[in-house]
Amino acid sequence: MNTRRLELIGVTKAFPGVRALEGVDFDLRGGEVHVLLGENGAGKSTLIKVMAGVHRPDSGVVKVDGQEVRLTGPGHAEQLGISTIHQEMALVPGLSVAENIHLGRPPRRFGLVDRRRMRRQAAELVERMGLDLDVDATVADLGVAQRQMVEIAKALSLETRFLIMDEPTAVLSRTEAARLFDIVRDLTRSGVGVVFISHLLDEIAEIGDRVTVLRDGAKVAEVPASTDADELVRLMVGRSIEQQYPHRRGEVGETLLEVRGLGRAGVFSDVSFTARAGEVVGIGGLVGAGRTELVRAIFGADRHDTGEVVVAGQSVPPGDITAARRAGLALVPEDRAGQGLVLGASIEENMGLATLGERTRAGLVDLRSQRAAAARQAELLKVRAAGLDQAAGTLSGGNQQKIVIGKWLLARPRVLILDEPTRGIDVGAKVEIYELINTLTEQGTAVLIVSSDLTELLGMSDRVLVMADGRLRGELGRAEATQEKVMALAVTEGNDGVG
Ligand SMILES: Nc1ncnc2c1ncn2[C@@H]1O[C@H](COP(=O)(O)OP(=O)(O)OP(=O)(O)O)[C@@H](O)[C@H]1O
Ligand SMILES: [Mg+2]
Repeated sequence: MNTRRLELIGVTKAFPGVRALEGVDFDLRGGEVHVLLGENGAGKSTLIKVMAGVHRPDSGVVKVDGQEVRLTGPGHAEQLGISTIHQEMALVPGLSVAENIHLGRPPRRFGLVDRRRMRRQAAELVERMGLDLDVDATVADLGVAQRQMVEIAKALSLETRFLIMDEPTAVLSRTEAARLFDIVRDLTRSGVGVVFISHLLDEIAEIGDRVTVLRDGAKVAEVPASTDADELVRLMVGRSIEQQYPHRRGEVGETLLEVRGLGRAGVFSDVSFTARAGEVVGIGGLVGAGRTELVRAIFGADRHDTGEVVVAGQSVPPGDITAARRAGLALVPEDRAGQGLVLGASIEENMGLATLGERTRAGLVDLRSQRAAAARQAELLKVRAAGLDQAAGTLSGGNQQKIVIGKWLLARPRVLILDEPTRGIDVGAKVEIYELINTLTEQGTAVLIVSSDLTELLGMSDRVLVMADGRLRGELGRAEATQEKVMALAVTEGNDGVG
């Protein structure tokens, strides 16, 4: 019998202004996958940080194999075999993949870091996980999905008895998630206990055994992972969600965005399409198809070599964000923690960033109007925080994303580009974001959505453009677009994955 067990009993944890956890019981047995489910800000990450030794609970007990332990820090938890992949990535961008995998505990020889062994061990691990990853690559040069894989490799390089994963699949394609699940199954078969957090409900039935649901810091239920999705949603948000994709009124008007023959050597080429006022245009495709690179170039965050971006009849110079913003373009980036948010600044300051210019008179920011606007937006998006002064870096992951989206919504762009807008956002809050998108289109904004969530892409878009290998492979109208048709266009030769 497997007696391996990690238990939390009556754990309470408060932060200034919030009760993040209230008397929570949780236990993890060797060989199982225990899912933690809850809305943004429900306390999931806080709970796993208690298990990982990051937070000391205000009260309550942690037990490992029946023995009470007082975790003194993350190192202590690791010594006990508790490995954690946190929601916010903890990699060092300037170091290589191999260096990151062995961070803090590199193999040594004669007291010196044994770089050859470090590389070899990292390469073996990456190979065993079936990852396509160069261990010598610098982490800063990797995409978000690859960085997540490095995190996973890093956690598995330890003597793991309990593996805790906070939304590991949020940045992964379906192929990559499937690979991760294979790894997880291997681990549970060898007796490892796994805690898994995800906002994607279909993953829960696929990989989970048990589900603990948290609401406002308290445990509200423990149910089998086979519980149907509607019931899980009801437990999580306290009500059922009738319409996931709210219907949109409003008319399609003039062309606001024209992309003409856009190309960037080796990344994407000959991309042409338009988006009109009141329209939602979706861009589908596999991870790596060039979608993020394309929208970054449209926004001027990267240069393009050929072609032209025209907003409301005016050509926008390449690689010039300031000009793009002045023309009315806005981009909510995929890598929000890295590019979208100032973690040390408050919610209010972050929300004000995109509209700072408008609110500045004679060099002074009109703080009162900034505060009012931020408060309204936070309310609309149901941001869960102690107050507008809370530092963005201390918000839950999903709430950080709401801030970045809110900031750009405040700028009232003509063309709003959203790159994976609801990644890490709970099911209830997703609907709020969809409703905001609808409000914007009703007011005449053109919206461009990049999403790997096919249901969302089809549910929200009037037209879906499908990209593969840096080219647009086709366009599907709302009536004809199906998951199968999108996938058929997205999968090209030499690229057999699904994502
Ligand atoms: N270091 C901190 N300082 C202040 N408040 C914090 C801190 N960490 C978390 N909180 C607060 O505790 C609450 C729970 O946050 P937590 O990160 O555990 O949520 P979560 O369930 O992981 O949400 P998400 O799905 O958005 O990741 C939130 O209200 C959050 O703002
Ligand atoms: Mg979290």
